[in-house]
Amino acid sequence: MLSSALLIGASGCKPKNAGDATGSDAAAKVYVPPGKYDEFYNFVSGGFSGQVSVYGVPSGRLLRVIPVFSVDPEKGWGYSEETKPMLNTSHGSVPWDDQHHLALSQTDGVIDGRWIFANANNTPRVARIDLTTFRTAEILEIPNTAGNHSSPFITENSEYVITGTRFSVPMDYEPGDVPIESYKKNFKGTISFVSVAPESGEMNVAFQLLLPGMNFDLSHTGKGPSSGWFFFSCYNSELAHTLLEVNASKRDKDYILAVNWKKAEEYFKAGKGTKRPAKYAHNIYSDETHTATSTMNNEVTVLDVKDFPDIVYMIPCPKSPHGCDVDPTGEYIVGSGKLAALIPVFSFSKIQKAIADKTFDGDYEGIPVIKYEAALHGEVAKPGLGPLHTEFDDKGNAYTTFFISSEVVKWNVKNLNIIDRIPTYYSPGHLSIPGGDTKKPYGKYLIAYNKITKDRYLPTGPELSQSAQLIDISGEKMKLLADYPSIGEPHYAQSLPAELIKDKSVKIFKLDENKHPYVTKGEKESKVVREGNKVHVYATMIRSHFNPDNIEGIKEGDEVYFHVTNLEQDWDVPHGFAIKGAINAELLVMPGETSTFKWIAPKPGIYPFYCTDFCSALHQEMSGYIRVSAKGSNVPIAFSLGKNSDPEAAAEGTPTP
Ligand code: CUA
Repeated sequence: MLSSALLIGASGCKPKNAGDATGSDAAAKVYVPPGKYDEFYNFVSGGFSGQVSVYGVPSGRLLRVIPVFSVDPEKGWGYSEETKPMLNTSHGSVPWDDQHHLALSQTDGVIDGRWIFANANNTPRVARIDLTTFRTAEILEIPNTAGNHSSPFITENSEYVITGTRFSVPMDYEPGDVPIESYKKNFKGTISFVSVAPESGEMNVAFQLLLPGMNFDLSHTGKGPSSGWFFFSCYNSELAHTLLEVNASKRDKDYILAVNWKKAEEYFKAGKGTKRPAKYAHNIYSDETHTATSTMNNEVTVLDVKDFPDIVYMIPCPKSPHGCDVDPTGEYIVGSGKLAALIPVFSFSKIQKAIADKTFDGDYEGIPVIKYEAALHGEVAKPGLGPLHTEFDDKGNAYTTFFISSEVVKWNVKNLNIIDRIPTYYSPGHLSIPGGDTKKPYGKYLIAYNKITKDRYLPTGPELSQSAQLIDISGEKMKLLADYPSIGEPHYAQSLPAELIKDKSVKIFKLDENKHPYVTKGEKESKVVREGNKVHVYATMIRSHFNPDNIEGIKEGDEVYFHVTNLEQDWDVPHGFAIKGAINAELLVMPGETSTFKWIAPKPGIYPFYCTDFCSALHQEMSGYIRVSAKGSNVPIAFSLGKNSDPEAAAEGTPTP
C-alpha cells in the first residue's frame, strides 16, 4: 500500500480509479443551484500570489480574490494614492509577498466571523482582513524576524496573533554584518505577540520572546484545559546554516516548543523585558476617510527566555516537525514530522505533570526538555509517509495529510486507530475543515490543498493550477466529491459557516459619512483646482458620466490628482477610472467611496479617460477628455460637463494659443 502510494507522490502516476466518477451522489452534493448560496465561505491563502481568495463550499465557486500583500491592478490596490501606504514597510514599498497561513478571529475558542488574519512570509508582516468589507484593513510589519512563516496563530479570545520567525537571524538591534559561520553565536529566533484590540481589531507588537536560533514552523494555541498555552513546531535544532536538507535533518527528533503565553504576558505586563530599537511599519486603512496611513514604529519589548525559565519548554518530536495541531478538547497536541513514519500525539495534562515533576531530559540551549515518553499520549503507527497537517471533526477524529504517500488519513484521537484513508491528487500540503482547528468543528467537509495537479485539468502549458479537493467527511468513510483549481499556491485555508457573516456584508459606503479630504459629495461641487504645478480634480461618477468630463488647462509635467467619488448608493455599482497611457492601474471605486489616481501630465495632446466597469447600458458613453498643453501655454484651467461647443473654436478647429 505504502510503496504504491509513494510512487504516486513521487511520479504523479495515475493511481487506480483516479478521475473515475466519485459516486452517483457526488454531483448532487456539490451542486448549488443558480441563485442559491453556498453553505460555507472558504478563505484560501494565495502563496506566492500574496493574496487571499474566497471560495464557496461545497460548490467550489470562486467568489472573490482579496488583495492583501501584492498590488492588484484589477482593484487599484497599491496603485491608488489611498492604498499605496498599505504596502509600506521599513524596506520601502514592497509590491508582493508570499501568503501562507490564515487565522479567523475567535471568541471562546469558536470562530466569531469578525476578521481573518494573514501572514506575509517574505517581508515579515501580518494583515487583518475585515469580513464585512472583505478588504485588508491593516498590515503590521514584524521586527526581529526573517521569513514570517510560522504565522499567524490566534489565541482563544483573539487576544493575540502569534507569529514566529522561519529564519533565525541576528536581531535588528545587533550588528548584522557577521560571518554566516557564526550562526550559533549570533543568530537568534523570536516569537512575537501581536495584540489585537477587542473592538477595533487594531494590531500592535506587544512583545517578543527571544529564543535559540532554530527555524520555527507552525503553531496552534491551546484551548479548554490548555488555554493560555501554545505549541510551536521547530526544526533545525542542529542550528545548521548551509545545506539544510541534510544538515537540519540529522537528529531523529526536533522539538515542539510549549509556551505558557499567559505567564509571558504576566511578565510583560509587570514591566519585564528590555525595550530594543526596531523599525517596523504599521499601516491602517480607514473606511471613514477611505485612506490608509502608514506609521513607522521604533521600539519593541524583548523578553529573553533565558531570564524567564518558566515560560517555555521543549518536547522532543520526530522528525523535522511541520504541523502542530491541537484537538478541539484542548488535551491533545499532534506533531507531524515531515520525515517521520509515525504521528506522535502529546497530552497536555501529561505535559503539565512532567513540568511539575521536572521529568526533564536535560535542556536545549537552556530550555528544559521534557522527556518524550512523559509528554506522549501515544503514537499513530504506520499512518502514511510524510505527515504534514492535521485538522479535526466534531466526533473525536483527526484527519492528517500525507505529502509523500498522497493521501488523507482519518484516525481516532483517543485510541489512535486508523479509521480510513483516501488518496488525493496529488501530494497534499494543508487541509481545512470548517472550524477544524477550533473548539467547534463543523465536520461536514474537508478540503485538501494539493501541490501537484498533473492530469487533473486540461493542460495549460508548463504551469498547472494547484488543486483543491473537496471530501465529504459526514460519514465513517471519506468520499471524494470534487476538484477545483485554486489561485496562486494555497497553503493553509480556513472556513466558516456562511450564516455567520453573510448578512453583515457591507453593500455600500454611505456618501454622507465619507470623510475623505478630497471627497466631492455632489456634482455641483465638482471642480479643478491648480496649486502651483499640482492640479486637484474633484470629480464624481454616477451612471453614466463623470463630472467634469472635459478638462483643459493641464500642462505638461503637472502632477495631477484625480480624486474621483462614486456617488452611487446602490449595491454592486462600482465605477472604474483609467486614462490612456497612464503608468498606473485602473481605480475601481465602490459606491460612496473616493479614490485618487495620480498622473504626471505627459506631452501635449488629448487624453481620453473612461469608466472600466460595465455599470449601465450607457457604460461605453461614460468617458471624457483631458487636454494637455505645453509647459508655457496660457490655456486656463477649465472643466465642464455637457457644455455646448464654443462655435468659434468648433469652426476653426485650431489649437488655443
Ligand atoms: Cu461607470 Cu461603466
